[in-house]
Amino acid sequence: MKNDIERILIDEEVIERRLDSMAKEIELDFPAGPIVVIILLKGALVFAADLLRRIPRELSIECLNVASYHGGLESSGTVDFLDRHFPEVKDRHILLLDDILDTGRTLAVVAKRLKEEGAAAVHSGVLLAKDKKRAEDVAADYVGFEIGDEFVVGYGLDYKGKYRNLPYVGVLKLSAAI
Ligand code: IMP
Ligand code: MG
Repeated sequence: MKNDIERILIDEEVIERRLDSMAKEIELDFPAGPIVVIILLKGALVFAADLLRRIPRELSIECLNVASYHGGLESSGTVDFLDRHFPEVKDRHILLLDDILDTGRTLAVVAKRLKEEGAAAVHSGVLLAKDKKRAEDVAADYVGFEIGDEFVVGYGLDYKGKYRNLPYVGVLKLSAAI
């Protein structure tokens, strides 16, 4: 796996320090009371697990399966909800977590749905945000790191289902992207 990585962009230690500060920001911003955390699978799994353990608050965890990339290097342009059930979010304060903000379609579509389902407020957090013009005019409330517009893997992010368990974020070698 390591041989497929061109270079490490953000190493484990740097990610951990940033999660400490993100958790503090979230803890300060959210009004007192329980938080419903929505984790977008599978990409946000690793990020969410590490972030949530740093938030000493009553929270409940829900997961949503959405697909936008369908395994490739480029966004497909549509976002599909893959679950049969949608979590109960009415009047709840939501922290929506995704791995990366790319075109912005995923966060835009999911945030819209959460509001339609009656959520009191939706705040979103991403580990990474690509510095690019987005198809959807969305910004995340909490961004771990701004990165350039290149394809990255690791720390939850995949290429064709691989590399999610790398402990860092790295750029994939072109030769591995086949
Ligand atoms: P968006 O809807 O275009 O913002 O894309 C969000 C989704 O695309 C993320 O949840 C990721 O699963 C995937 N994605 C976008 N960029 C990358 C990348 O560089 N590496 C791996 N997955 C990515
Ligand atoms: Mg993905």
